[in-house]
Amino acid sequence: MRITGTGHASMRIDTAAGSILTDPWVNPAYFASWFPFPDNSQLDWETLGDVDYLYVSHLHRDHFDAEHLKRFVNKKATVLLPEYPTSQLEDELRDLGFTSFLRTKSDEVHELDGGLKIMIQALISPTDGPIGDSSLWVEHDGIRLLNQNDARPADLTRFTELGHVHAHMLQFSGAIWYPMVYELPENAKTAFGKQKRERQFDRTWRYIDDLKADFVFPIAGPPCFLDDSLWQFNDIHGDEGNIFPDQSVFLSEYAKVGGTNAVVQLPGSVTVLTDGGTKQTTEHPMPVEEFFANKKAHLEEMRERKAPIIAAEKESWRHPEIDVLGAMKKRIEPLLEESIYMANGVGGPVRFDLTDSFGPDGEVVESIVVDFPGKQVRKYADEKVRYRFKTGRALIEHLIHVDEGDWVNSLFLSCRFSAARIGQYNEFVYAFFKCLSEERLQYAEGWYDEHEKAVDAEDTQFGDWTVQRRCPHLKADLSRFGVLDGNVLTCQLHGWKFDLPSGRCLTGVGHKIRAHKTETP
Ligand code: FES
Repeated sequence: MRITGTGHASMRIDTAAGSILTDPWVNPAYFASWFPFPDNSQLDWETLGDVDYLYVSHLHRDHFDAEHLKRFVNKKATVLLPEYPTSQLEDELRDLGFTSFLRTKSDEVHELDGGLKIMIQALISPTDGPIGDSSLWVEHDGIRLLNQNDARPADLTRFTELGHVHAHMLQFSGAIWYPMVYELPENAKTAFGKQKRERQFDRTWRYIDDLKADFVFPIAGPPCFLDDSLWQFNDIHGDEGNIFPDQSVFLSEYAKVGGTNAVVQLPGSVTVLTDGGTKQTTEHPMPVEEFFANKKAHLEEMRERKAPIIAAEKESWRHPEIDVLGAMKKRIEPLLEESIYMANGVGGPVRFDLTDSFGPDGEVVESIVVDFPGKQVRKYADEKVRYRFKTGRALIEHLIHVDEGDWVNSLFLSCRFSAARIGQYNEFVYAFFKCLSEERLQYAEGWYDEHEKAVDAEDTQFGDWTVQRRCPHLKADLSRFGVLDGNVLTCQLHGWKFDLPSGRCLTGVGHKIRAHKTETP
C-alpha cells in the first residue's frame, strides 16, 4: 500500500486493486481565509487526480474543493459516498460531472474489485461538520488504514473490531474560530486558546491510544491564513494560545507522551507500507525538519504569491444593491417559524452588526436582529441580545447572492467576524445558521427531537459519583473521555464541563447531566 500526502486532509492511496484520492483541497476556502499548509498547489494534480475512486469526507470547503475536483479529478472515478441524511454531497458532485457513485452504508464493509475493502463511518448529528462528517477505513492485502480525518466518533470500536489497523490518519490541530474572534481581553483569549490547544492534543492522544495503530499520520490541519487581516492566526508568533499548532509541534508534543510512531507527510511525500503494514518507508520532497524550520519564510512567500487570488475574491463579494434585511427576512423567518428545538435552544435575539469593510473593523452601517423567541428578522432596536456578531456587510451580501444555506461553512469558518455573547456557549446558534434551508432545518429539528427523547440509562463511576455513561453533548463514552476534577467532570471529546452536584452543564445551554453520590452501605 502506498500513501502519497497531498496536503491538509488529502491523500492518495494506491493499492494493486486500485487507487483512492481523498479530500483534495487546493483553492482557498471560507472567503479566501484558509489556504492549505504546506502549499500543495504545485503538485502534479493531473496525475494525482487520475484515480479509480474518490472519497470526499464531507462538505466543508477545506475537504470539498469544487473547482479543483472539476478540473483535475477523473470523472470516471467512482465516488465512495458516506451515508448522509441529505443528498447534498452527491448532488454537488453530480453537478461537477461525477456519475458513478457507491452509496455506502455507514459502518458496513464494502468489497470492491480486486479484494479492496472499504468502510465509511458517517457521523450525522447537526454538530458534525456541515451536518455530516466521516472517516474512511481501507483494507487491502491484510494492510489496514483508517483515515479518521477530522471526524470525532464517540469511540473507535467499530474499526478495532475489524482487526489491527496499521496506519491511522487523524486531526490534531484547530479548525474553528474560537477563541480568536471573541471580544475578550487578550490575556483571557490566550488562556482559553491554551486550554483549547491542550484539549485538542488530549483528544488526539486518546484516539491514538484507542486504535493503537503501527503508524500515526497527523493530518487535516492546520490551514494557513494569508490575508493581512488574518495573518496573526498562523502559529509563528510564539503565542501559546494559538489553536493552530503544526505537524512539527505535534511531533514534539507526541514525544512528550511517549509517541514514537508518527509519520509527517509534506505534500508529495510518499509512504510505502510493507511487511503486512508493520514497516514503513517515507520519501519526502525535502527534509521535514528543514521545511518547518523555515515555516515563516514559506508562509511569507505564499502570502505574496496568493495575494492576487485574495484580492480577486474580495472584488466579487460586494453586492450593495442587495437589500440585506429584506433577504434575511425572506430566508430566515419561515425557518424560525418551523424551528422548535433550535429556536428554543438559542432562546434570545442574535444581532448582526454589518460594517463597511470585509470584516469586523470599520464602521457599522446596518444592525439586524434575528429574534428567535419573536420569530422575526428585523432592525436592531437597542435591546439586550444573547449573541452579537460583527462582520462586513459585503460578506452577507455575498452569502445572499450565492444563496448560501450554511453560514458556518462560509462566514463563521472564515474568522472574518468578531463575536460577543452573554452567558455560555450556545451550540444552537451555530446549528441554526448551518441549517438555512428547509431540508437541513427539518433534519436537525428531527435529530434534536430524537436525541432529547433518548433515555440514557447506563451509568459509570467516577470516585464516589455515579454518572450517566454517555455524555449529554454528543454521547461520548464518559468512562473513556470523562475526567473528574473536584466536582467538575470534563468530557474530553469536545471539552464540555459538568457540575456534578447540580447536574448543570458549564459549557453550553441545556445538556444537564444525571449524577448522584454513590451510596455507601
Ligand atoms: S461528546 Fe462532546 S463534550 Fe462530550
